[in-house]
Order: sequence, then C-alpha cells, then structure tokens
Amino acid sequence: MKRKILVTGGAGFIGSHVVDELIKRGNEVVILDNFFGKKNKLDGVNKQAEIIDGDVTKREDCQHAVKDVDAIYHIAAHAAEGQSVYIPIFNAKINIMGSVTILTEAINRGIRDFVFTSSIAAYGKPNTLPITEDHPLNPEDPYGVTKKTIEDYLRVYHELDRIDPYIVRFFNVFGPRQRMNDPYRGVIPIFINRCLKGEKPVIFGDGEQGRAFTYISDIVEPMCDMVGKRELINNPINIGNTDVWTVNKLAKEIMNIMDMPGEPEHVPARPTDVVLCYSDITKAKKLLGYRPRVSIPEGLKLTLAWAKEQGPQEFDYMTYFEIPKLSHNVYKEKTI
Ligand SMILES: NC(=O)c1ccc[n+]([C@@H]2O[C@H](COP(=O)([O-])OP(=O)(O)OC[C@H]3O[C@@H](n4cnc5c(N)ncnc54)[C@H](O)[C@@H]3O)[C@@H](O)[C@H]2O)c1
Repeated sequence: MKRKILVTGGAGFIGSHVVDELIKRGNEVVILDNFFGKKNKLDGVNKQAEIIDGDVTKREDCQHAVKDVDAIYHIAAHAAEGQSVYIPIFNAKINIMGSVTILTEAINRGIRDFVFTSSIAAYGKPNTLPITEDHPLNPEDPYGVTKKTIEDYLRVYHELDRIDPYIVRFFNVFGPRQRMNDPYRGVIPIFINRCLKGEKPVIFGDGEQGRAFTYISDIVEPMCDMVGKRELINNPINIGNTDVWTVNKLAKEIMNIMDMPGEPEHVPARPTDVVLCYSDITKAKKLLGYRPRVSIPEGLKLTLAWAKEQGPQEFDYMTYFEIPKLSHNVYKEKTI
C-alpha cells in the first residue's frame, strides 16, 4: 500500500538511504531536515522527495511536516557520541527536545507508526556479550542517555495507546554519503578521509576496541520491512553485522586498499570509549528474517569507490563548546 511517509533527517547519511528505499517501494516521502553541517544541501537527496528545510526542535516546523502523513521515520539527531560529553545542552536540545516535539505532533495528528533510530550507545558498557535487547540500558555518554530517554517516551505514549513505536538499535553503520569532514564521529569515514589526504589514520588508545561495522544497506532494508509487523511494536530490536573487527584491523584494511604504507598513529584514549561492543541479532533473525549480507571488506570497497569520487575534505571542527575542558587534545589542536 502506497503511503505518505515523513523522514526526519532524510538528507543525512542513513536518512537519505531510507528515503531512497521507501520511494523505491512506491511510497511518497517528505523530508524534514535542517542540513546541519552539510555543505551542498541536496547532495545525495532523492529528487522525488518533498523537502522541508526545517528544524525538529521547532514546533511549527514539525506541525507543517506531519500534515497528511501516514507514518514517521524519526532519524534526525546530533549523532556524535564522543562529542556529546562536552556539548550536553546542544545534544539534549536536538536529541531529546527535537524527538519529543516531533513525537508530540505525531500524536496530535493521530499518526501511529513511528520508527525511531536508537543506538547501541543506549546500552553503555556491556555486562555480557553479545548484547541482547534485554540488556540493561546504562548509557555512558549523554548521546546514549538521549536514546534511552526517547525509548522511554515512546513506551509511555504507547502505553497511553497513542503511538506504535518501532525502535531499532544499531551500531557503527558505514557507507556512501556518510560525512567525511566530521572529525567527531564515524571512524571509517575519518580514516578514509585521512588516507585520501595522504595522512595516516589516528587511533584513540591501543586500537583493540572491537566493533561490528555494518554496511548501510544492511540496516535500511530491515528498517523498511519492519513497519506493520505487530510483534515489533514497542519491542526494540538490534540490527547490524555480527563480524567484529578491531579498529587496528580496520585501519590496516583501509590503508591496504588505499595503498598507504606504514602504520597508523596512536593518541591517548577517550574516557567514554567502550572497549568491546557488539549485539546479538537473534530477535531480528526470528521476527524479520534478517541477515546481514555485505561483509566489511566488500562494504569498505563500495564506500571507498564513492569516497574517491568525492575527494579529500577539510575536517569541520566545532568552535562551540559547552564544557571545553572535556574536549580531547586532538580536537583542540585540530590534529585528527
Ligand atoms: N551512523 C551510525 O553508525 C548510527 C548508529 C546508531 C544510531 N544512529 C542514529 O541514526 C540516525 C542517523 O544517523 P546518521 O549517521 O545518518 O547521521 P547524519 O548526521 O548523517 O544524519 C542526521 C540528519 O539529521 C539532520 N538534523 C540534525 N539536527 C536536526 C534538527 N534539529 N532538525 C532537523 N534535522 C536535523 C542532519 O542535518 C542530518 O541530515 C541518528 O538518529 C543516529 O543517532 C546512527
């Protein structure tokens, strides 16, 4: 059935791929995005989508965006985990107030289907691995706190019979259209951008942090498949790869594909970095028939082909800090 779907953050990395897939499946799509940090606003944005240049924290923009809409994918966020420690106010404004605002207007319009992109960051430091969905949510940084908080808001309004939330918790997604000029997040685009500039990857700590890096198509399909599956309503689900790579292995593979000699550089660790973190996807397999299809090396090759077309980019360092003392030296000195 063709539906009109609002995608907040639809001009961003994950959002733009979700928009493509929803349009491919015959839906009409409206995007609400403020193009935060994006140089060429419409790069990678599907031309068939209606675009609202607006802000999820502004009630009138949300009221305009939800008009005549059947379902919402709320993907907009300031999604920088490490950085959130020293910009707690900004982080809360976008990720909590923005989410609560779009949720409020969804409820006022009687829109039930509400997909929310949560994160493995909501779990915090794992007690057990792999992390299953019933693992306690003990986030270790303000970004993770916001994801947990919005999951709670969604549960509350679901219990009040006002919304049907579909909550996806994913982790370390990579692929074409991920911003390469953001020095605060996305180890893969940062390493690729450094290599494109002829500079070695910079690793925080010993590089033995392990992550299940997930190629973009492996999260987009399940996000588009899940709406309408009653058993997934208010039932958060882990989505992603199960192949765990260390950051050292990742840096070597990228340097190898890009023919870069030598070894990566190491700098002191960041205080909130979790050493090993990956999820159990049994629930997604069972309820969605989900299985990740793209291996990390395959995904890296696809991403690198796109990145080479873009060319090297200047890193865009923030000049705005709320707690500057907590900022890592590589950001203060702009040496990433
Ligand atoms: N990339 C990952 O590995 C990952 C992992 C887990 C969860 N997530 C979640 O997935 C979502 C998308 O992440 P992404 O990697 O595509 O990030 P992204 O930064 O590429 O996309 C976010 C989009 O939201 C928009 N946005 C930001 N503030 C806004 C505001 N106030 N009003 C309207 N639009 C606003 C941005 O302009 C951008 O287009 C986020 O909710 C993020 O927390 C991402």
